[in-house]
Amino acid sequence: AIERTLSILKPDATRRNLTGKINAKFEEAGLRIVASKRIHLSPAQAGKFYEVHKDRPFYGELVEFMASEPVVVQVLEGENAIAKNREVMGATNPANADEGTIRKEFALSMGENSVHGSDAADTAKDEIAFFFSGLELVG
Ligand code: CMP
Repeated sequence: AIERTLSILKPDATRRNLTGKINAKFEEAGLRIVASKRIHLSPAQAGKFYEVHKDRPFYGELVEFMASEPVVVQVLEGENAIAKNREVMGATNPANADEGTIRKEFALSMGENSVHGSDAADTAKDEIAFFFSGLELVG
């Protein structure tokens, strides 16, 4: 089915001017960028977005990193977009990411791993609504 998923190009990617190279990977995989904006998250906003991880030991570092520099938040659309995007991103830890994936090519570490993508249909819906209104989604 045609799905939508939330994607974030993280501060390590924007800092190194990699947004075009990463977007090319999405588009080559058949994912269409139907919404996109560059924003600088406050620590409170980053903390709210990653609230599900609030009890994890890496939460503080994650929030600090995500609010450190601009990010690009986007909605990707396509056939099986949620799983497709996860495939294109590669494993969370770049050391485990397959050849050709975004994290294998660009990620610096488990924390500075260049991209975030929704992990399931229900989280995709919530994460898209966190950043975008319906009017901003343009197929
Ligand atoms: P992301 O898909 O954005 O979701 C949560 C993020 O926490 C994850 O990518 C990683 O960048 C980051 N993170 C940092 N340390 C860990 C860890 N030990 N396990 C999982 N995620 C981690």
